[in-house]
Amino acid sequence: MRVIVLGGDGYLGWALTLRLIARGYEVVAVDNLYTRRAVEECGSTSALPILNTVERAKAIKEIFDGNYKFYMADVTDYHELYKIIEESKPDAIVHFAEQRSAPYSMRSARHAAYTMYNNIVSTINLIYAVKEIDKNIHIVKMGTLGEYGTPNFDIPESAFVDAHINDKKDSIIVPKFANSWYHWSKVHDTNNLIFANKLWGITVTDIMQGPVYGSRTKDIRDERLFTRLDFDETWGTVLNRFCVEAVLGLPLTVYGRGGQTRGFLSLEDSVEALARLIEHPPETGGYRVVNQFTQAYSINELAKIVSNAAAKLGIEVKADHIENPRVEKEEHYYNPERKVLPSLGLSKPSVDIEDAVYEIIRDLSNYKERLEAYKEVIMPKVRWR
Ligand SMILES: NC(=O)c1ccc[n+]([C@@H]2O[C@H](COP(=O)([O-])OP(=O)(O)OC[C@H]3O[C@@H](n4cnc5c(N)ncnc54)[C@H](O)[C@@H]3O)[C@@H](O)[C@H]2O)c1
Repeated sequence: MRVIVLGGDGYLGWALTLRLIARGYEVVAVDNLYTRRAVEECGSTSALPILNTVERAKAIKEIFDGNYKFYMADVTDYHELYKIIEESKPDAIVHFAEQRSAPYSMRSARHAAYTMYNNIVSTINLIYAVKEIDKNIHIVKMGTLGEYGTPNFDIPESAFVDAHINDKKDSIIVPKFANSWYHWSKVHDTNNLIFANKLWGITVTDIMQGPVYGSRTKDIRDERLFTRLDFDETWGTVLNRFCVEAVLGLPLTVYGRGGQTRGFLSLEDSVEALARLIEHPPETGGYRVVNQFTQAYSINELAKIVSNAAAKLGIEVKADHIENPRVEKEEHYYNPERKVLPSLGLSKPSVDIEDAVYEIIRDLSNYKERLEAYKEVIMPKVRWR
């Protein structure tokens, strides 16, 4: 099987590349290295050191003897993307190549517009290239659970639901109410993919994924294979950020009351779920929505998990409730449906969350000195209001 990973240099893209290579797939990775540059623009860096793209290709050859090719290209350039897909003839294309920070998208008009352009145009280009080259290529698109927001109803794992208005009934796209320009860009992607599927029968898996945590997967057994791990206010997802705070002896920055609940999953479970979704595509011309997470936690629960794991390493951690920079509900109902991953044998987390957090803190502790220089980039400065 040959898979193109758009965004193959990123946190998930590199980890998935390794999983597919370890399973004997051919991988073509495409990336414009935007995240590396944008994180630097915010005065930060990956907490774990990562190799450059040439050294990464060499490590894949040496460690796995893998069939891997890297293209430095921008997915918003239709002709470049078209050429790569035409030459590579993939069975599936995984699309990660988007601006993925909510706070970055909320900084200014320029950042919001960049997010909309980069994300929506990259997906439109992918849709058109697949339609023109081979409609049987399976598009595996990474969206976010954040597309739904936090509605006061169960979140269905499907593209459509029945709606009754007055005495009439029809099928409508599952209602979404995202919470940042970034999350809205993903909603627009979803609408565009649904339309392309209806129009041209393109086969799509549209993944609504929760925040991912973790520094390791079964394939990351050597420091040369580290994937990036961001922790600053703009790029760090909550649990990875808390782990860096623990290592630096800083209080955990819980936004507001900390009752915000989201569906989380480990890096290991994320790449394994993706590999299985690639191996088990929907029927040709099908549109499959996947709510990808293993367990829901509130931010207060996460802070407790981090302080328990840190205590096992002799680190004492406390949590500070700071003013919430975001506009979001701090207590709410949360129940996304989850059927697809259990049907593929992924009903439970493969790693206990406290063990995964212990592993992150242990990995990060080896780089404490490197992290000391970046203490200033953790406190939130970007405000939603
Ligand atoms: N990490 C999470 O917790 C999480 C959760 C839910 C959804 N997601 C989504 O998964 C995807 C991957 O996330 P990640 O955490 O690996 O982010 P990341 O920023 O580490 O990876 C994205 C990669 O895409 C590249 N990229 C961006 N725009 C591009 C373009 N126009 N052309 C070529 N390359 C481009 C970046 O340089 C980067 O290497 C994103 O779409 C993100 O929104 C991530």
